[in-house]
Amino acid sequence: MTVFAYRNGILHAEDAALTAIADAVGTPFYCYSTAALRANWAAFAGAFAGQDVGVCYAVKANSNLAVIRTFAEQGAGADVVSEGEMRRALAAGVPPERIVFSGVGKTRDEMRAALSAGIFQLNVESIPELEALSEVASGMGVTADIAFRVNPDVDAKTHAKIATGKKENKFGIDYDHARDVYARAAALPGVRPVAIAVHIGSQLTDLAPFRAAFLRVADLLHVLRTDGHDIRRLDLGGGLGIRYKDEALPSPADYAAMVTSITGNLGCHVTLEPGRTLVGNAGVLVARTIYVKQGLHRQFLIVDAAMNDLIRPALYDSYHGIRPVVEAASDATTVPMDVVGPVCESGDTFALQRPLPPMAAGDLVAFDSAGAYGAVMSSGYNTRPLIPEVMVNGADFAVIRPRPRIEDILAAERMPGWL
Ligand code: LLP
Repeated sequence: MTVFAYRNGILHAEDAALTAIADAVGTPFYCYSTAALRANWAAFAGAFAGQDVGVCYAVKANSNLAVIRTFAEQGAGADVVSEGEMRRALAAGVPPERIVFSGVGKTRDEMRAALSAGIFQLNVESIPELEALSEVASGMGVTADIAFRVNPDVDAKTHAKIATGKKENKFGIDYDHARDVYARAAALPGVRPVAIAVHIGSQLTDLAPFRAAFLRVADLLHVLRTDGHDIRRLDLGGGLGIRYKDEALPSPADYAAMVTSITGNLGCHVTLEPGRTLVGNAGVLVARTIYVKQGLHRQFLIVDAAMNDLIRPALYDSYHGIRPVVEAASDATTVPMDVVGPVCESGDTFALQRPLPPMAAGDLVAFDSAGAYGAVMSSGYNTRPLIPEVMVNGADFAVIRPRPRIEDILAAERMPGWL
């Protein structure tokens, strides 16, 4: 990603030196590039220009209000999976008629909130959820436009923890039950089945599983129309992967051509819900080396970020590029290092035996491709305060979520009366 590049030996985000941001906000911190967010949006949405396609940014990937607004300014809708995410999208300026509410277990309170806001569509994933929505909506005197998320039983060929489209996964309505479920919905008050939704997983690097799933959706569309349902919309989910290491990836144009070849003549408005592809490579995590520890057999780079800040390596064995913020001399030899955080778990390991130039205490490192599923999945484990998020725009930068003070973390808790 060229927006995170060395200039005069210092890693920059656009025109801002990461060393200067580290001095101003302290470490560790997340740093996002506005130019990269906009470029990713332009590449993805631009690939569908002129078509009846709405791009709803999957807020779960990075839900900071400033990130959502950056996309909203470009015309993005939002795909949300909780009332909290919906309120973020609305607060960031996404119009309700561009919001899709997905998720396997929406509560009645969340349904009420979504219906009051007047969002575009709710994606329903089970019969009990359908019945609850019918009751809630008819009680409010409204009719909800719904999709059923169907589970096409397609292998997404991605990490098992982020594959969602096989029949053993908890997601969606079994493909073979879809006809019955649409018939059931058509007979209920308060719901109007207008769409079919599908999402088979995340970090897909091959178009074939998408194609297989979308073809199944197109087949189902014909069947449902024959059954008399007026289905005018398809929601094809998210999932396009990014390059973390050396993955060969389809381009947004390849993806768009594949989508259009299947949906072009179906007479449907298409919704897409990309997350990672819009934000993943638009962010880095910057940490400072606390110690370099020479073990018996290996060297450990102990940094001040940890698994609670970026959990992807611990949870999915995921790879993130790691670069010194101050560029190493071109003739520097590399040493294999285990890059670890201070949390009391062996899983708190970002990389094993990663070749890095010689590093010393105080040196800054940047973890690449940390814009998606980074800050949003962080926690306060070990009472480590959530780390700040910073957004860069040219040479400017702004803290878009400050680091909480430990006093405030403690003050938010309550002693019960008996202590
Ligand atoms: N739509 C639905 C219904 C989803 O469940 C997801 C992601 C998306 C859209 C966006 O998918 P994307 O375009 O970002 O691949 N925490 C994991 C990823 C979990 C993805 C969950 N669902 C990770 O760090 O790799």
